[in-house]
Amino acid sequence: MKGLLLAGGYGTRLRPLTFSGNKHMLPIANEPMLFYGLRDLAAVGLHEVAIVLGPMREGIREAVGDGRSFGLTVTYLVQEEPRGIADAVRRAREFVGGEPCVVYLGDNLLESGAAPLVQRFERGGYSAVIGAAPVDDPRRYGVVELDGERIVSLAEKPTEPRSSLALVGVYVFDPRIFPILDRLTPSARGELEITEALDRLVRDGAPVGVERIRGFWKDTGRPEDYLLANREVLASRPPTYFTRPGAALPAETLRGPVRIGAGTAVDPTARIEGPSVLGSGVVVGPDSVLGPFASIGDGARISGARIRDSILMERARVEGPVDLRDSILGRDAQVVAGTGSIGPISLIAGDAARLRGL
Ligand code: G1P
Repeated sequence: MKGLLLAGGYGTRLRPLTFSGNKHMLPIANEPMLFYGLRDLAAVGLHEVAIVLGPMREGIREAVGDGRSFGLTVTYLVQEEPRGIADAVRRAREFVGGEPCVVYLGDNLLESGAAPLVQRFERGGYSAVIGAAPVDDPRRYGVVELDGERIVSLAEKPTEPRSSLALVGVYVFDPRIFPILDRLTPSARGELEITEALDRLVRDGAPVGVERIRGFWKDTGRPEDYLLANREVLASRPPTYFTRPGAALPAETLRGPVRIGAGTAVDPTARIEGPSVLGSGVVVGPDSVLGPFASIGDGARISGARIRDSILMERARVEGPVDLRDSILGRDAQVVAGTGSIGPISLIAGDAARLRGL
């Protein structure tokens, strides 16, 4: 079985103009989000994975390389235009080479990982296995309608959903999908839709299994979901994750599980509540209160501010009496408060944004 991790240009709602570079490289708990998918593919026993890159592909090859650090052999395929998930899979036909494959959307985060889908497929008898989970607004997803175990209909982002079961962004296919992919035509959003391919597979009479996904699942496309994913990842990290090399701090400074990177300095008057992660070379100045659920990237500087349930990317700076919640600050973004205290506020500041005298 082969793996395909899609890190292309589909569904980029976290605007590339706000956060430069590839969306799949945005950090969750200080690690690029696509790392989680790669680890999942390795965890289900796959060895060969192709990453399908889109037009914005900066940083991915540099970060993942040949995949050795994930226990994988990673190769790269390119989808020059964001023509949809089905188009990306079609490009991988030669790589897949007649074996079954797991297709993993690089912006999806699943607590259960891909294992329940792969195990279901391996029990035999399926041409494809898809994952489904209930959501509040199914119009944002592919939607599956079931009668018991039988698929009645599949529709991509329907205006009038026939169920509240969304398609999770991990799929297992056998090679029967490829001739169907060749016959697809672009949808209203100009993409070849994997949901339509699945619908045709079902109509052709092929057995398609539906696995109910339990535990946390997020498509991290919207800022609020991205923040929730950060929260979930921090909350589910094992105690061994929360290391603090060389950080000698007064006991009252850290509360709960906090991971601190090398060369990070925390003022003794600051307080950090776990679960939180601080990268390397971070400076936490006097009277700052961080966490819970703060992910602070390498080289960030915080002074006198409160920050919880938030993601600060590399070198972001927050100064002064501002209370940030549910906020995302891009790389090199700066938020400098005036003299009066502000907040709590929720802020999304893109890379290199400057907000002064709030
Ligand atoms: C894609 C799929 C959709 C699925 C979703 C899961 O949506 O087209 O069927 O429910 O991923 O993340 P997109 O990210 O393209 O909006």
